[in-house]
Amino acid sequence: MKKHHKLAQELLTKLGQEHVLRFVDRLDAAQQDALFAQIASLDAHTLSRMRKTLEQRSDTALHDELPEPAPVISLSAAERIAALSRGEELLAAGMVGVVLVAGGQGSRLGFDGPKGVYPVGPLSGASLFEIHARKILALENKYRISIPLYIMTSAANDAATRAFFEEHNYFGRDRANTVFFSQGMWPALTKDGRLILDAPGHIFESPDGHGGLLAALKKHALFEDMRQRGVTTLFYFQVDNPLVNVADPVFLGVHAGNFSEFSIKVCAKRDADEGLGNVVLQESGSRRMLEYSELTVAQKSACDESGRLRYYFGSPAIHVFDRVFMEQQAEQDLPLHVANKKVPYCDEAGRLVQPDTPNACKFEKFIFDVLPRAQRSVSLEFDRADEFSPLKNASGTDSAETCRRDMLLKWARWLEECGIKVPRHDEDGAPAVALEIDPCYALGPEDLMANLPSGFTISGDTLLSAETAG
Ligand code: UD1
Repeated sequence: MKKHHKLAQELLTKLGQEHVLRFVDRLDAAQQDALFAQIASLDAHTLSRMRKTLEQRSDTALHDELPEPAPVISLSAAERIAALSRGEELLAAGMVGVVLVAGGQGSRLGFDGPKGVYPVGPLSGASLFEIHARKILALENKYRISIPLYIMTSAANDAATRAFFEEHNYFGRDRANTVFFSQGMWPALTKDGRLILDAPGHIFESPDGHGGLLAALKKHALFEDMRQRGVTTLFYFQVDNPLVNVADPVFLGVHAGNFSEFSIKVCAKRDADEGLGNVVLQESGSRRMLEYSELTVAQKSACDESGRLRYYFGSPAIHVFDRVFMEQQAEQDLPLHVANKKVPYCDEAGRLVQPDTPNACKFEKFIFDVLPRAQRSVSLEFDRADEFSPLKNASGTDSAETCRRDMLLKWARWLEECGIKVPRHDEDGAPAVALEIDPCYALGPEDLMANLPSGFTISGDTLLSAETAG
């Protein structure tokens, strides 16, 4: 037996997972090597934490008194101007990096490929990745700086994500400023703590959650990369929101002005059921994210004395982090979150079975679990109509249709702010033409005002792009 096979076998015995080798005799040499390599990569510390989590698992609903929602900052016009100027200073000094988490599997959307490839631009068909990258390019041009974009992928979509950026020439940005890195993969366990084979020579694994960001940044020496580039502050967002105001200088300014280590944008929830996290205060005075799954239906709809939802504000997962704080957090474990899932498995004969009901526990880390460890944190209110419309589902709410509708409404408002008449339907006031504004043409109504040619009118579908503007 090869030496590393023997070591892997010893590890399995130590972990009580010998069943993983039950089909080993059927595998050819290459398949055996691959399986033994996978076994050698198992992390005994994490596996033991996973099994402990299963043993101690209880229902996650809150039974005690509901925690207080954390205070939220709403900026006055003057405060906004001050924050903007502080944030612009950070940007202009090249101290800001952008982190995009795009390693998820997007199972609800049912799209074949990385979610960022989804064509969401109403007229251009621009992908989510293109929209995000062009916003960064617009800032780079505006402040004459480079903003490194760190994109977290996972094993299933890493190659496709890199190829997509390559194919599109990094959307006009310097390729040295787009850094891809893959998050970790974790095995799932049966309810009694056993690893699952999804092929005779392969253990089932899935991404370790967006909290895997910290371990992945550390593993790929990216904190070092940030330090070398002079990045002190990280703007973090999820791939699914085409409205996001990437590296928003106002938000960066609020973060810096409050000496915050972890800042969170929050917006009014659509309704009590919307699946957004809630920032709450703990007894110690620190903050934590109370996930929607931790609340019962009645708790979600609880109101305060004024009749407003107790958890009125939700988090769309738009954050600013202090780099040093995150680097420190990467040295510590994050809590494990468990979800019951259907995971394909090999039966006794080695045939693949697709279960009809959940048969496995998947584990994930969440990035916001570092929040209670922050000495200082702020939540900043924003208007969701301007900045939040996520692509989560194939149809209905939070679908491509609602994303495009919300983009159109936003661009119509910008144009109207510039005094341009947008044709609207009589019945519901919705714009009667399709509109699209390339981020490199305008990042907001002020840029639009500066860039629109004089005498500009809208008579039909209109795409304003930096290229066509020359
Ligand atoms: C998430 C947040 C919720 C927030 C909402 C806003 C969690 C548990 N909940 O919900 O607090 O209010 O978004 O839209 O996160 N991702 C990875 N790797 C992974 C898993 C996810 O990179 O292993 C990325 C995805 O690509 C995506 C983001 O994280 O960009 C969010 O993942 P998703 O599963 O869509 O989160 P939600 O349950 O919608």
